Amino acid sequence: MRLYGGSTQLLLCLTLTTIILTESTQPPFACDSSNPATKSYPFCKLTSPISTRVKDLVSRLTLDEKISQLVNTAPAIPRLGIPAYEWWSEALHGVSNTGFGIFFNSTIKSATSFPQVILTAASFDARLWYQIGQAIGLEARAVYNQGQANGMTFWAPNINVFRDPRWGRGQETPGEDPLVSGKYAISYVRGVQGDTFEGGGIKDGHLQASACCKHFTAYDLDNWNNVSRFGYDAKVTKQDLADTYQPSFQSCIQEAKASGIMCAYNRVNGLPNCADQNLLSNIARKQWGFQGYIASDCDAVSIIYEVQKYAKTPEDAVSEVLKAGMDVNCGFYLNNHTKSAIQKKKLLESDIDRALTNLFTMRMRLGLFNGDPASLPYGSIGPDQVCSKQHQDLALEAARTGIVLLKNSANLLPLKKTISSLAVIGPNANSARTLVGNYAGPPCKSIDPLKALQRYVNNTQFHKGCNFVNCTSASIGEAVEVAKKADYVVLIMGLDQGEERENFDRVDLVLPGQQQSLITAVAKAAKKPVVLVMICGGPVDVSFAKSDPKIGGMLWGGYPGESGGVAIAEIIFGDHNPVLPSCSSLRLPLQSWGLRESRIFDPSASSEQQWPIAGCPISFLFTLHVCVEWRIAIHASQPSHLAIWETGLALAYKAYDLTFAGGKLPMTWYPKEFTKIPMTDMRMRPQPSSGYPGRTYRFYTGPTVFRFGYGLSYSNYTYNFTSVTQTKLFLTQISSTNATFQNSDSVHYTPVMDTDTEPCEKAKFLAKVEIQNHGEMDGKHAVLLFVKQNIDQNEHGIENGKPLMQLVGFESVKTIAGKRVEVEFVVSPCEHFRTANEDGLMVIEEGSYYLAVGDQQYQVSVLHEDKSLNDLKSNDCGLRFSFGVLLFGFQIYVLLYILV
Ligand SMILES: *[C@@H]1O[C@H](CO)[C@@H](O)[C@H](O)[C@H]1NC(C)=O
Ligand SMILES: *[C@@H]1O[C@H](CO)[C@@H](O)[C@H](O)[C@H]1NC(C)=O
Ligand SMILES: *[C@@H]1O[C@H](CO)[C@@H](O)[C@H](O)[C@H]1NC(C)=O
Ligand SMILES: *[C@@H]1O[C@H](CO)[C@@H](O)[C@H](O)[C@H]1NC(C)=O
Ligand SMILES: *[C@@H]1O[C@H](CO)[C@@H](O)[C@H](O)[C@H]1NC(C)=O
Ligand SMILES: *[C@@H]1O[C@H](CO)[C@@H](O)[C@H](O)[C@H]1NC(C)=O
Ligand SMILES: *[C@@H]1O[C@H](CO)[C@@H](O)[C@H](O)[C@H]1NC(C)=O
Ligand SMILES: *[C@@H]1O[C@H](CO)[C@@H](O)[C@H](O)[C@H]1NC(C)=O
Repeated sequence: MRLYGGSTQLLLCLTLTTIILTESTQPPFACDSSNPATKSYPFCKLTSPISTRVKDLVSRLTLDEKISQLVNTAPAIPRLGIPAYEWWSEALHGVSNTGFGIFFNSTIKSATSFPQVILTAASFDARLWYQIGQAIGLEARAVYNQGQANGMTFWAPNINVFRDPRWGRGQETPGEDPLVSGKYAISYVRGVQGDTFEGGGIKDGHLQASACCKHFTAYDLDNWNNVSRFGYDAKVTKQDLADTYQPSFQSCIQEAKASGIMCAYNRVNGLPNCADQNLLSNIARKQWGFQGYIASDCDAVSIIYEVQKYAKTPEDAVSEVLKAGMDVNCGFYLNNHTKSAIQKKKLLESDIDRALTNLFTMRMRLGLFNGDPASLPYGSIGPDQVCSKQHQDLALEAARTGIVLLKNSANLLPLKKTISSLAVIGPNANSARTLVGNYAGPPCKSIDPLKALQRYVNNTQFHKGCNFVNCTSASIGEAVEVAKKADYVVLIMGLDQGEERENFDRVDLVLPGQQQSLITAVAKAAKKPVVLVMICGGPVDVSFAKSDPKIGGMLWGGYPGESGGVAIAEIIFGDHNPVLPSCSSLRLPLQSWGLRESRIFDPSASSEQQWPIAGCPISFLFTLHVCVEWRIAIHASQPSHLAIWETGLALAYKAYDLTFAGGKLPMTWYPKEFTKIPMTDMRMRPQPSSGYPGRTYRFYTGPTVFRFGYGLSYSNYTYNFTSVTQTKLFLTQISSTNATFQNSDSVHYTPVMDTDTEPCEKAKFLAKVEIQNHGEMDGKHAVLLFVKQNIDQNEHGIENGKPLMQLVGFESVKTIAGKRVEVEFVVSPCEHFRTANEDGLMVIEEGSYYLAVGDQQYQVSVLHEDKSLNDLKSNDCGLRFSFGVLLFGFQIYVLLYILV
């Protein structure tokens, strides 16, 4: 509903009358051009640069007004026409009311709830992540335009590396790999902020909504064994900081251009993050070029004095953080103690002005000081954009492509839709709330897995099995009776927020209470092998289920979001019948495939006109294949048919999407014995002498339940490197200074701090990989390309702190049954072949590197210097050659002369 489209008089008039008439309220904004008292302020002059406007604005504030603006709930300054602002809003996997800035109490009552991030990450599909970010940014703007937001700064994404499987907030992150975390940050932040997928598309710094990368830095322990995040002092080596804890933040700042970062509660090597000037001002702002605001985690300032005792007085805490470069305090602390810090001369007013400059710049970049937002870019985004069909479809697609097939013995899955009876057992089967995980807003709709499964099999019996998810008591006997009577059994088990959440880490890695006994008993009694669905964010040791022949199929569903119940059912029944989910649900977001909006295909409209190749609802899977096969021919020969094949292609893609389960695990699943290691040990690298096994696939040397990147598929695939454009590289060419060094083992190396230098650009090469789908089903399939320095890493273990392997790139591809498809990876040696040395310096060493995908490897050598080039230079080989030719010629000449 848009009530305020007309002239300003009309607007005023309407405002007065609509207070009673409509539930829609005006969004808060400053610099109202209809207000004579404020419109003439220089800070409202839109033609001036934001820096000039902010300077003017800050100069007009009294000290008390200034201090009032340093906390998340910033009050209005009526004399300047500045409305209140709430810095704290959340949008981890959908616009949420977990913070204070968003209200779902008027026209908009819910927002699309995408899968919890750990599952979205499992798709390894950066474009999908971007689309989710875009949808969230759009919905956020719609909520603001509708007058239901007091702020547009969202404190997401959470990109701390998922270092320890017990972490209660691991579910919020994209997993354990720094490259994946960085790429996720880039995709999500660009989407939310209104940038293009490739970046660089934001005009004049104006944002759709603001994203904030958190928690800076080395924050990944909440509350374990009485060690709380508030007091925790993370002991981190320079090496681990450089190649594990920091890279995702660097990507978030440099590439994603995030407009916010949040400093974390914990200390790193004694220093509280929010009081660390080197971290906030030097590294983030100076080295990485951060432009935006820095928020504290909530109450992270007060704890510096009250819990950590790092500051001697509250005033010291306040002045430390402001001097370090923090701008806004989530909490009250700065409100209460900043004035006395100034009076005690611990702080200068200019330290506050520095923070205020960042804060008001941010609000201006969001368009909140430009007068009526209705007339601005993003002003026309209406409430119909929230929970739109397109966004809800995207939530379903994200769940479908993220869910990981962990086991499928004897091809139990997918089940046939014609089965006569089904038993659904487990405490997570009938809870829609569990599906959305934490930091969720009210979802548009939510169907629990039980209801979704019932749609496939009429004769479905349900038994909860456990009292709660913690399963402190189980009704195993009753559940077994239900299971015995059914043809097939699906168990929906796992964890929920009672078991893993913010401020609550797990102490073990097994299923809670009597869940395991229940599963084993039901599986034993069932007629056929059962299907086990694990709903959980963090990994669980399910070794018992891996080895139990009566457990035939196993899925990891993460917390799959509002459409997760449907996605689970679709995957269990291998649903790739495009007719089944009704024609109208195939309405396609073509532009998400880079095509123009005008070509949106709507099968519910006149089908012949829009879909010339085949009418709806005939089974068009065949047609789609034809379409894809033909597309090149059609495209090349008859451009007028472009629209046809684009439509067909998009439909084909959609059909492939319907074919599920291409997800791969974004984190290692460790055996339960892993909990012998204290969660507080931050070291990534193993230490064999003390039995410390290291952490994550990059360094962990122990046994796993499932490894990082694991995930089966309903089709099987083979890989082949078809072309690698570079097999030899030279350190002297990669280095921007030609400087190489030797370490204590006489291995040459060169430092690579910057990866965007010209030599680094030149060193990039392509690795083309062909993927063949040998199965009978089409599928979306994540292809992961790694690099490693030892062919058999298990034999060598960790040497010199170098990772066992490291992800180089990933791509989610659509494959057709029986067909091949080629994927092209850009390998950047500067970025992908470098590792951190003990001083925290990123270096590339000479040696053999192996690109690896599946079981295929391809060797690339990094040599110290180009010997042939050197020979040429030092021996003047070229000159000698020319001289030789000359001499030879002269001899012939002499010979001829003599002969003649
Ligand atoms: C919605 O909630 C906000 C914050 O509590 C409040 O200011 C606003 O008046 C509420 N709106 C309605 C329509 O209830
Ligand atoms: C944790 O702290 C609580 C209260 O502070 C105490 O009762 C409990 O014994 C402690 N547990 C451990 C394992 O130290
Ligand atoms: C800080 O101020 C708030 C209100 O602004 C008040 O509720 C709170 O008690 C104060 N805290 C301290 C420690 O003074
Ligand atoms: C399921 O039950 C409904 C109503 O009881 C019936 O209309 C429908 O045909 C049944 N479907 C199947 C596949 O048996
Ligand atoms: C089990 O979960 C229920 C529901 O969440 C809760 O009320 C109960 O306290 C939990 N029991 C234990 C022992 O944690
Ligand atoms: C694909 O899987 C089937 C069944 O597991 C197996 O028979 C076949 O050999 C596999 N094909 C390839 C190429 O691995
Ligand atoms: C792999 O690719 C190479 C180069 O294109 C080709 O010669 C070879 O036959 C392919 N191998 C398989 C198994 O397809
Ligand atoms: C490095 O060496 C190459 C080739 O010898 C030369 O062209 C280049 O200018 C050198 N670069 C620097 C920064 O010295």
